[in-house]
Formats: sequence, C-alpha cells, structure tokens
Amino acid sequence: MRAVLFVCLGNICRSPMAEGAFRRIAEARQLGHLRIDSAGTGAWHVGEAPDARAQRTAAARGINISDLRARQVNSDDFAAFDLILAMDESNHSDLIRRAGREHSNKVRLFMDFAENTTESEVPDPYYGGPDGFELVLDLIEDAANGLANYVNSFRG
Ligand code: 4NP
Repeated sequence: MRAVLFVCLGNICRSPMAEGAFRRIAEARQLGHLRIDSAGTGAWHVGEAPDARAQRTAAARGINISDLRARQVNSDDFAAFDLILAMDESNHSDLIRRAGREHSNKVRLFMDFAENTTESEVPDPYYGGPDGFELVLDLIEDAANGLANYVNSFRG
C-alpha cells in the first residue's frame, strides 16, 4: 500500500483538497514514503490550479494546495496506484469502467474510510457557496484520517 490516487470530476475542488489533507496527515503520522496524487475523470480544467474557494478553505486549515495542477486520469494510473479513491458514485462508476477487470479492485469510494460519518460521497461543491467547501473538507479530513489508519495497519 504505497500509492494513493484521489479522483473527482474536475481535479480542481475535491480531489486536490483530499490530496493536500492526506499529505499533511501522512507526514504528521510519519506513514513513510507514499506516492500521493490526484486527478479528474474530466479534462476541462487540465493544467489549472485548484479552485480559489478550495485553496482558501484548505489554507484556513493550514493546508497549502496552491502548487497542485489539474490532470486527467490516464490508463497508466490503474497499474501505478494501489488505491484509487473516488469522491462520489459517478466518479466511482467511471473509474470502475476504465479500470478493467485487472484493476477494478483498487477502485473504492473515499468515504468508505471515514470513521465519523455515514456519508458515502463527497458532494460536488463547484456550483455551490463557500459553506459547501467547508462541508467537503470536513468529510475529506474524516476519510483521510481513516485512510491513514488503514495505511498504518499495513506497516509491520
Ligand atoms: P471537482 O469539482 O470535481 O471537485 O473538481 C468540479 C469542478 C469543475 C466542474 C465540476 C466539478 N466542472 O463542471 O467544470
């Protein structure tokens, strides 16, 4: 369990926030070297920095995601990553379809790792207001903590 890819639709809101939140937790908990990345199922925002609202919400919690740049999921990702974590059901079904039989077992819903909520999806905040980004980051931090527990359970 050494490589984790977070995936949403645009790779400018949810998955970069998840990448930043998990990077910080992995560092704080000294999980060792992990490849941590994010991508979008869509290509509309490729090359862009995270949405300003996502950057602000993350920065207010001490998470700097300003250096991240959006990219689209590609076919190599399914071999390269051990876990491919979808933010919502739509991302999940897209990824399962692209993964093929060999890699579909790596594709999971990110919220499956959350320990303090029964929400199954991180909702798309793109067309909403700033409160949506706060809720998204609450859900992400919960799942990122649970994911850190999961990754840690593989260490000897
Ligand atoms: P994300 O949010 O999937 O969390 O990055 C979105 C960003 C852009 C769009 C939709 C969702 N869009 O339609 O452009």
